[in-house]
Amino acid sequence: MAPRLFLVLVLFAVSSLELGVQGIGVNWGTSASHPLPPPKVVELLKSNNVSKVKLFDADPLVLESLSGSGINVIAGIPNSMLKSLSSSKKAAESWVHDNLTRYFSNGGAGVQIEYIAVGDEPFLQSYGGQFQPFVIGAMTNIQIALIGAKLENKVKVVVPCNSDAYLSESGLPSKGHFRPDLNKTMTQLLTFLSKNRSPFFVNISPFVSLHQNKNISLDFALFEEGAHARKDNHKEYKNSFDVSFDTLATALSQAGFSNMDIVVGQIGWPTDGAINASSSIAETFMKGLLDHLHGKVGTPLRPQKPPMETYIFSLLDEDQRSITAGNFERHWGVFTFDGQAKYHIDLGQGSRNLVNAQGVEYLPSRWCVVNNNKDMSNVTASSLQACAVADCTALSPGGSCFNISWPGNISYAFNSYYQQHDQSADSCDFGGLGLITTVDPSVGSCRFAVEILTSISTSLPSTILIRTALLTALYISLWLVEFAW
Ligand SMILES: *[C@@H]1O[C@H](CO)[C@@H](O)[C@H](O)[C@H]1NC(C)=O
Ligand SMILES: *[C@@H]1O[C@H](CO)[C@@H](O)[C@H](O)[C@H]1NC(C)=O
Ligand SMILES: *[C@@H]1O[C@H](CO)[C@@H](O)[C@H](O)[C@H]1NC(C)=O
Ligand SMILES: *[C@@H]1O[C@H](CO)[C@@H](O)[C@H](O)[C@H]1NC(C)=O
Ligand SMILES: *[C@@H]1O[C@H](CO)[C@@H](O)[C@H](O)[C@H]1NC(C)=O
Ligand SMILES: *[C@@H]1O[C@H](CO)[C@@H](O)[C@H](O)[C@H]1NC(C)=O
Ligand SMILES: *[C@@H]1O[C@H](CO)[C@@H](O)[C@H](O)[C@H]1NC(C)=O
Ligand SMILES: *[C@@H]1O[C@H](CO)[C@@H](O)[C@H](O)[C@H]1NC(C)=O
Repeated sequence: MAPRLFLVLVLFAVSSLELGVQGIGVNWGTSASHPLPPPKVVELLKSNNVSKVKLFDADPLVLESLSGSGINVIAGIPNSMLKSLSSSKKAAESWVHDNLTRYFSNGGAGVQIEYIAVGDEPFLQSYGGQFQPFVIGAMTNIQIALIGAKLENKVKVVVPCNSDAYLSESGLPSKGHFRPDLNKTMTQLLTFLSKNRSPFFVNISPFVSLHQNKNISLDFALFEEGAHARKDNHKEYKNSFDVSFDTLATALSQAGFSNMDIVVGQIGWPTDGAINASSSIAETFMKGLLDHLHGKVGTPLRPQKPPMETYIFSLLDEDQRSITAGNFERHWGVFTFDGQAKYHIDLGQGSRNLVNAQGVEYLPSRWCVVNNNKDMSNVTASSLQACAVADCTALSPGGSCFNISWPGNISYAFNSYYQQHDQSADSCDFGGLGLITTVDPSVGSCRFAVEILTSISTSLPSTILIRTALLTALYISLWLVEFAW
């Protein structure tokens, strides 16, 4: 009996170790004109053995589709809500009641919400401090509401911070510290996290560092063996990720929280819209990152202590993400907007072959292109108008459609606009310059998309509705006729 119990314990220990190795999740954002339907996304997560997901809000359709899936969830509170949540305990109570409590009261088949992310990079330097005054108040009120709902032992409150919250002037991790303008807020945040045994959430982006010319080489960002190492006292840094992670570790120590766990809330590599953004480079980066994490080596300052959890950014491309930081912002997905793998990586269970979304329904195979039999002297204005609304990021330098010549690029802009408007005929007008075609205009790596059929977007269901109404009317009149007899 005893040896068997021992074996069971060993097996248990081994399997929980493996779970530790997994610690890999994905970010699921929905800033898309035609988001893949939530049940399809959950299927995609399951078929790829993804057991953790980070959201940016608390969309009921998304949360309901995660119900009973066994997937652990981080629900998000957008920055725009921080002010009201910090000024009103009642607002925080309502948020917890509407967006949390009901998923726990579902007798076990609910949604496994582990964290609430209060804000999304609220201290980002480019926000100019507009959200900073509300973060601590909002998280405090949410915590009070959690206690009121008796959920404080199940759900932890965290604040995902961008890596621009800390820095090291010399570039050496051992000289890391938090941004001086955040000093007071950061002290309050760390005290709160420590008291509630919550981890520090950080978003790290070697791609953005490279893009901003932060004195790193592509090799160093990509975990390449041959990259020129950076020496810091007796420690040697071989990649950009470790540098950023350890700069944070030093900042935490400096502030008196050297044992605080770190979760990487976002990390990834975009595949389009900029130089050095491509599927093959992204694959190299992700392979380097995942090998590093699976190897459990940790970093020079935290050896054998890799991040507690790491969330890949992102699951899917999103054609309506803000591009203020760059045109690559809409191309972070490991999968395309319609759930097709761009490259292959091992998300934690040994298989390098990602599984695509199945049974995706599309709009008809139709595209909008420029009619070059017409006078095209005004076409530039039309394409700029289209691009102001639609997604033309693939046309930027380094993008997948940068090389298609004029007027192919105009057609690309027209088509994007047309697809975003559910292929309505008037969205391919452009003063008579647009032409609807059934011949796929894609060239080489430049893909002219056909959008996903979404429930909000269809013209089809309305015809079905009309047909149903007509049929119902017919039946009623037949019945009336019969009744009259
Ligand atoms: C998911 O896990 C199962 C069982 O461990 C394995 O057979 C399968 O290959 C994995 N799938 C992926 C895409 O990793
Ligand atoms: C619940 O979350 C949704 C989505 O983020 C948000 O629109 C809504 O305002 C929240 N409810 C409350 C009461 O704050
Ligand atoms: C840039 O990186 C190199 C190599 O790590 C280093 O020698 C140099 O001092 C750095 N320059 C700046 C301005 O940080
Ligand atoms: C705030 O500044 C003080 C004094 O410079 C420093 O000791 C402390 O570590 C700083 N706190 C944080 C969170 O950076
Ligand atoms: C990629 O980035 C590196 C480092 O910034 C740069 O030297 C290189 O030219 C870029 N690659 C391409 C194809 O432009
Ligand atoms: C081009 O635009 C101008 C100003 O809107 C208009 O007067 C002109 O007729 C247009 N030309 C063509 C060929 O559509
Ligand atoms: C675009 O064309 C140039 C020159 O022909 C080539 O070097 C480059 O790789 C092409 N870029 C893309 C994204 O196809
Ligand atoms: C299309 O290409 C032409 C010629 O290279 C350029 O002037 C124009 O700005 C491009 N338009 C778009 C929408 O990219």
